[in-house]
Amino acid sequence: MTKVSPSLLSANFGNLDQDLEMLNSSDAELLHIDVMDGVFVPNISFGFPVMQAINKKAQKPLDVHLMIVDPGRYVSQVRDCGAAIMNVHYEACTHLNRVVQQIHDAGMKAAVTLNPATPVEMLEDIIESLDMVLLMSVNPGFAAQKFIPSTLRKLVRLRKMIDSRGLKTEIEVDGGINLETGRATVEAGADILVAGNFVFGAPDPAKAISDLASLSR
Ligand code: DX5
Ligand code: ZN
Repeated sequence: MTKVSPSLLSANFGNLDQDLEMLNSSDAELLHIDVMDGVFVPNISFGFPVMQAINKKAQKPLDVHLMIVDPGRYVSQVRDCGAAIMNVHYEACTHLNRVVQQIHDAGMKAAVTLNPATPVEMLEDIIESLDMVLLMSVNPGFAAQKFIPSTLRKLVRLRKMIDSRGLKTEIEVDGGINLETGRATVEAGADILVAGNFVFGAPDPAKAISDLASLSR
């Protein structure tokens, strides 16, 4: 079984309640929340008031992916929005070790996200402190983009880095995930799949989630 974290970026913001009810009763393990600031990525999504509204209805842990510069400034606000996991980009943190400590001190799981061009080896000296690594399989900023195949070789190297150290750090992959890319991703070592367009663009979103969840290595 694979854990699935559906991305609310592709949900219907005119009727979030309906989508959250579907997600609450689905096989989703987490809910993926994409926050964009228009600076770190060329798009703006939503911020804390919307996250708080989601948190009131959601019955699954919130997996918050911050595509913003200097995310360390917002640790307590993210925690107050109910985040279980706080994902910060490697490329957005000058003092990554400090930010990871702050996330843990606030009582959340800490995850570091890598853009497609950032090698997994950049995490060699922090991997022991991470609950999760999020590999971007598209350039962050937009839903419904095409999966970048070089993610797979990064995944294999990251899996080795984690397993050779006997760590429990989970690997999540985000961008362009469907049944085909999801299968290849799970075979290469992913534990958690994020999916936006594949889930919310499907005739039966709950089935799309359980189809991804049934993938196994
Ligand atoms: C992209 C976001 C993703 C996005 C995934 O910047 O981080 O989480 O919503 O969407 P799909 O699954 O449609 O590629
Ligand atoms: Zn994301």
